[in-house]
Amino acid sequence: MSEINRRHILRTGGALGALGAVSLASPAQAAQSLWTWSPTGSVAATGSGADPRYVWDPEADPVAAAVLDSGDVAHVNALLRTWTRNDQPLPTGLPANVRDFMESARRLPGWTDQGKLAKAFDFNKKRGIYLGVLYGFASGMISTVIPHEARAVYHSKGGANLKDRISKTAKLGYDMTQRNGFQPDGQLIVTCVKTRLVHAAVRHLLPQSPQWTTGSDQDIPISQRDLLVTWHSLPTTVMQKLTGWGVPIAADESAAFLHSWQLCGHLLGIQDEYLPASWAEADSQAKQVLDPILGPTPEGKNLANILLNLGSTIDGGILTTHILGALTRFILGNQVAGWLDIPREPVWDPLLQTAWPPFIAVREGLLPFPLAPAAYWTLEEIIRQIALLFLSEGQTISIEIPDTNRPS
Ligand code: HEM
Repeated sequence: MSEINRRHILRTGGALGALGAVSLASPAQAAQSLWTWSPTGSVAATGSGADPRYVWDPEADPVAAAVLDSGDVAHVNALLRTWTRNDQPLPTGLPANVRDFMESARRLPGWTDQGKLAKAFDFNKKRGIYLGVLYGFASGMISTVIPHEARAVYHSKGGANLKDRISKTAKLGYDMTQRNGFQPDGQLIVTCVKTRLVHAAVRHLLPQSPQWTTGSDQDIPISQRDLLVTWHSLPTTVMQKLTGWGVPIAADESAAFLHSWQLCGHLLGIQDEYLPASWAEADSQAKQVLDPILGPTPEGKNLANILLNLGSTIDGGILTTHILGALTRFILGNQVAGWLDIPREPVWDPLLQTAWPPFIAVREGLLPFPLAPAAYWTLEEIIRQIALLFLSEGQTISIEIPDTNRPS
């Protein structure tokens, strides 16, 4: 795609809407459902209604492109490494366009509700063990069957070192669970704004990758629609699983958890007119953007295989790979497990099927403790270990703007 076309699309963003649908749609894109979700259901309650497939990030994208084109990435990354706290002034020496963008992007929106954020922390603390498993096995594994995401991750620089990349993504998950995530002494705002710049850099870099462009149905990756898809793979999927398992969740805690993710989405550059205002709106949007696009890709299979072997540092994969595979099948179902070539596990599959409901019931005080099967203890311990695997070590990670694609 020529630079002029690209710039034009980035500049015109949402306004391109209907025209873009004609000029850019490939057969694969045409198979995706049309955008009918109304902005009246969003946190903005109003908006253009433009199909987010043809909207990217008009504020961040030109900034990242300029940093990359001027060869300033190493310098900017070195400065940003020192920027870690939400209330910290930006380091001096940043290019003016980067500084201006970040000053604007770090501001919390007017609809921020501190009361809900405090409640969200209570929820995260209470449900931490489930959240660890669900972020890892619902959200993390589902990302490998989201074709746009799997291909983008695989062909970008971080795709070559998935373990490192996961710890960076886990940093966002870790920051989300902290009491002070959005507070002046927290780190989540910094993590989100840096990630927004990383995504913008990827939009500039991947179109230069022959491996990514071959077989891609997009000219530019990480559209607003893609961001929504991944957003739904996080809070919407997690909440659907928790309620499906019968975990009792108070209405105010559920609303607070949603609020924290709405804010996170905003800070990542998702436009307010696309962020669902309620769980009902989130479910209806996910049905439109997430459910129909799931499917296998060679890149996704490769990433899933690496993820399932993450625990091999602990036991050489003897036990962990089997447990992680079984958990993926249990949480995401047979179809997804099949797409990812995950083998059936004669011990772990039935164990999870039979022990999970009482496990939840015991933890939630719905089943008197003496009736708990012995498997309860095994599961509790396994879950703790897995949550640690995915959510530990979030502290010292630095999220950096990539300067290249995956080396071929
Ligand atoms: C980077 C989170 C959506 C593709 C990152 C990073 C985080 C993150 C924390 C920084 C980690 C790193 O530097 O490696 C999220 C969240 C999303 C989201 C919370 C949605 C709510 C997406 C989508 C795509 C995508 C929709 C693609 C379709 C990538 C890629 C990188 C990245 C390619 C860069 C990896 C590299 O440096 O090579 N994301 N992401 N992300 N993300 Fe996302």
